[in-house]
Amino acid sequence: MTMSLQAAELYEKVKSVIPPFEWSEFAPDVDAILALKRSRNAVILAHNYQTPEIFHGVADIVGDSLALAREAMKTDADVIVLAGVHFMAETAKLLNPARTVLIPDLHAGCSLAASITAEDVRLLRQRWPGVPIVTYVNSSAAVKAESDICCTSGNARKIVESLGVPKVIMLPDEYLAQNIARETGVEILTWAGHCEVHERFSADDVRQLRAGHPGIVVLAHPECPPEVVAEADFSGSTAAMADYVGRERPGRVVLMTECSMSDNIAALNPGIEFVRPCNLCPHMKRITLPKIRRALETMQHEVTIDPGIATRARLAVDRMLAV
Ligand code: 13P
Ligand code: SF4
Repeated sequence: MTMSLQAAELYEKVKSVIPPFEWSEFAPDVDAILALKRSRNAVILAHNYQTPEIFHGVADIVGDSLALAREAMKTDADVIVLAGVHFMAETAKLLNPARTVLIPDLHAGCSLAASITAEDVRLLRQRWPGVPIVTYVNSSAAVKAESDICCTSGNARKIVESLGVPKVIMLPDEYLAQNIARETGVEILTWAGHCEVHERFSADDVRQLRAGHPGIVVLAHPECPPEVVAEADFSGSTAAMADYVGRERPGRVVLMTECSMSDNIAALNPGIEFVRPCNLCPHMKRITLPKIRRALETMQHEVTIDPGIATRARLAVDRMLAV
C-alpha cells in the first residue's frame, strides 16, 4: 500500500487490530487531520470507546471521562476536538470556556444523559430536601447545574464517601448507583436511567464466558447491572480496566463494556487473548475520521452552553475535581 511515512509509522501501532486494506483507506484522513491539528493549534481528546484509527491514529489525549475532563483543563490549544459523546464535549467546554470546543457529530448522545431533565432534578430536590444530589457526568449541563456534585465511574465511590452522609441521591444511572451503594454502604436513591450498551450484559453471559473460556478474567464496567458486577473479577471505569490489563497481564480476558475498548487495549498488549462479546455504542460510533477532518476544516460543530447554566454546572464539576 502506498501512503505517507507518518501514516505507515502509525500503522505499526494498530496492525494487530486493523487490516492493511482498511488502514490504506484511513491514511489520507489521518494525514489531513494531523496537518489540520497543527494549522488550527488543535488537540483531539478521545474516549476509550473510540475506534482504533482514531484512538491510536489521531488522538492527542485518550482516557475515561474523568481523565478527559482533567486533561481538558491542562491544554493550551485554541481548539479542542472531542472524539466522544456530547456530554463529554460539554464538560470540556465547561472547564475551558475560553476555548473553542468542537464535536464532530452533534447527534452523538448518550442514553443516560437522555434519561433525565433539569426539571426532573428540581422535582427530586423538592421531594427529598437536604439529600445531596450526586450526578454522573453522563448528563447534560442543565442537569449538572441542578446538582450538588458530579462523579464519574472512576471516582463515584470516593465522591459519595466524601459527603459523609448516610443517604444520597445518585443520578441518572441506576446500576452505577446500586453498585456504589453496595461498595459504600451508603443508602442511595436512584433514577431509572441505564446505559444501552451495558444494560445488555447479564450474569448468565459471565457464567457462559467462564464455561467456554477456562481461566478467563472478567472485567465489568460499573454501568453493568449489579449481578454482572458481582460475577466479575474486577469492576472499574474504562481507564481502570485498561490499567488492570496492563498491570496484571491476564492470559485471557473479557471486558464487559463497549467493543472498541478491547481493540484499543489489545493493540497495546500483544500476547493477551481478548474474548470479545461485542456491544457497540451507536453514539460513540457516530464519530469517524472523515467527521473529525470536517470538524477541523469547517470549525463545526461548536459546543456552546447557556452562561447561566454553565456557571452552576461548572460548580458541580469543580466540586468533583476538588475531591
Ligand atoms: P468511563 O468514564 O468509565 O470512561 O465511562 C464513560 C462511558 O460512557 C461508559 O459507558
Ligand atoms: Fe452513554 Fe452507554 Fe454510550 Fe457510554 S456507552 S456514551 S454510557 S450510551
